[in-house]
Amino acid sequence: MIVHPTIAGLREALAAQPRIAFVPTMGNLHEGHVALMRIAREHAPCVVASVFVNRLQFGPNEDFDRYPRTFEEDCEKMREAGVDLVFAPGEREFYPAPQSCFVQPHPAQADILEGAFRPGFFRGVATVVTKLFNIVRPQVAVFGKKDYQQLMIVRNLTRELALPIEIVAGETVRAADGLALSSRNRYLSAGERLQAPQLVRLLREMRTEILSGAGDYPRMEREALENLTAQGWQPDYIAVRKRLDLQSPAAHDSSLVILAAARLGPTRLIDNLEV
Ligand code: PAJ
Repeated sequence: MIVHPTIAGLREALAAQPRIAFVPTMGNLHEGHVALMRIAREHAPCVVASVFVNRLQFGPNEDFDRYPRTFEEDCEKMREAGVDLVFAPGEREFYPAPQSCFVQPHPAQADILEGAFRPGFFRGVATVVTKLFNIVRPQVAVFGKKDYQQLMIVRNLTRELALPIEIVAGETVRAADGLALSSRNRYLSAGERLQAPQLVRLLREMRTEILSGAGDYPRMEREALENLTAQGWQPDYIAVRKRLDLQSPAAHDSSLVILAAARLGPTRLIDNLEV
């Protein structure tokens, strides 16, 4: 496994590769990321992963500065997962001048759910992902369902900008108690960590209710918000949406997903469950 800190170096190393599968990350890797790298392995003889904490997708009051950076351990995990090349640029290599050109997804995709609580987030994600795609030029790119709205936005930008890349989705990897693995889980105190699976339990209860015929989604969402709040969470949203475009479903719509974001103490957790 070779680590490339520069765009030119990576491009040179990739020039002769006929087929590349790519997994972009912000590092602090866990089994969720590693699972995506294993999926990438099945799709191409050459697997590239990137590790870059993308300033553009963090709000002014978010955790850019204290986002966990654990590059040595990350390399060990990537090596075990069968990654061939790692792109790990520094800030000045990736953004030599402040980025002035952006990929802006439509507000109907970018300003709902996560985007409503993290203004500019999906502009930052769409811009960095497009730039990474241009640098790596993969045939396949793998993204986790854990970040469901991000996956939808990446699929859309790939299609609408006619990028010749197949987007593959990986299932959410969870701890034994159900908590979705996340780099931000390390911010949880021991007590909060015990409480954290309440979020997925609530999503599972909602899924059971929907599968048994419940169709009053606004009521279910309201009750779920109250339930979480009563247990000491500060929820941002809990929403039943259509999988395809994350818009609100009509009564007869199937292929749904329930998405949630909530703070437990200072830590903001997101999760979702397909119905
Ligand atoms: P990051 O949060 O590091 O996640 C990298 C990839 O891992 C994303 O596709 C994410 O959905 C996936 N992932 C995270 N936790 C997962 C889990 N528990 N199970 C399965 N997959 C999981 O998402 C980003 O970085 C950034 O926005 C990025 C796309 C790299 C752009 O900067």
